[in-house]
Amino acid sequence: MTPTHSEYNEKTTATEVASAFADQIRGRNVVITGVGPNSLGEALALAIGSQQPAKLFLASRTEAKVQQVADKVKELSPTTSVEAVTLNLASQKSIHAAASKIQSQVDRVDILINNAGMMVLEKETTEEGIEIQFGTNHVGHFLFTNLLMDQIKNAAQSSESGSTRIVNVTSAGHRLSPLRFHDYNFEGKEVPVDERPPDGLPPMFSPAAGGYNGWLAYGQSKTANILFTVYLTQHLASAGIVSYSVHPGSIWTGLSRGLDDSGNEIMSKTSNFWKSGDQGAATMLVAALDPALNCEL
Ligand SMILES: NC(=O)c1ccc[n+]([C@@H]2O[C@H](COP(=O)([O-])OP(=O)(O)OC[C@H]3O[C@@H](n4cnc5c(N)ncnc54)[C@H](OP(=O)(O)O)[C@@H]3O)[C@@H](O)[C@H]2O)c1
Repeated sequence: MTPTHSEYNEKTTATEVASAFADQIRGRNVVITGVGPNSLGEALALAIGSQQPAKLFLASRTEAKVQQVADKVKELSPTTSVEAVTLNLASQKSIHAAASKIQSQVDRVDILINNAGMMVLEKETTEEGIEIQFGTNHVGHFLFTNLLMDQIKNAAQSSESGSTRIVNVTSAGHRLSPLRFHDYNFEGKEVPVDERPPDGLPPMFSPAAGGYNGWLAYGQSKTANILFTVYLTQHLASAGIVSYSVHPGSIWTGLSRGLDDSGNEIMSKTSNFWKSGDQGAATMLVAALDPALNCEL
């Protein structure tokens, strides 16, 4: 699988990628989760919005923030049809309502980018009692994707095979933890060896009393994004739908807002190249748009 633009690198922007693959955006319905000012979702929205999608849904938790980005898309691309949708991935009731809102307006979803994500160090839970990073970053997207499945399949029926895409945004942080099937809620239960963090991690990655460690929980959620992607492609490729999972690189966004000073210090050491938001969103757009990536179907 060789991408069309082998010259792309860490400095390539989402704006450039959207322009190069404009034909894959024009006239199609796109849904992006996790959109607010100074987020990767904003960079995605501006890039996709610049290439005349039929309808661009921006689905995120904070109504005022997502509306601010929707207004910016409108300002820069006045003919683009963009709609803000309130979606709290930590509430299954909210996920159902958001999916219903989208279904009431379109009968097909060509591209779904599950980009929303959160990182916290203290244990919290979703409305349903699921550890909040696993619940938001993976379980919420799992439900949202499944609720939109009829619309995704409708799109695939009348599109070139492999051009209907589901992109799940992961992180290099997935290396911190496998999926802890025996203790996904970090309740201090015994887990088999292949569900434990890799050997040799520094002490800050050790679970505290009670069994929780926010870094490991983030890592587990990002591993889940990848496993979900593999499963989707295994089961949907025959219907012309493919899924990719991508790491965007390192970008100073709002993701680290839940970290304390030492958490931010750890984050600052994770990269020696910090991308702009527009550069960070580029990998997601190559995964969503490059026709050369469907050659394994
Ligand atoms: N930035 C990086 O260096 C980096 C590196 C690796 C992976 N990633 C991944 O990239 C993705 C985008 O992150 P980002 O860097 O753009 O972070 P961000 O600036 O914090 O943006 C995350 C977005 O997700 C939304 N969100 C959070 N919780 C939500 C929920 N319960 N329901 C719906 N939306 C929710 C946030 O909304 P509010 O603002 O309203 O809370 C925000 O719009 C994430 O999946 C992250 O794991 C980022």
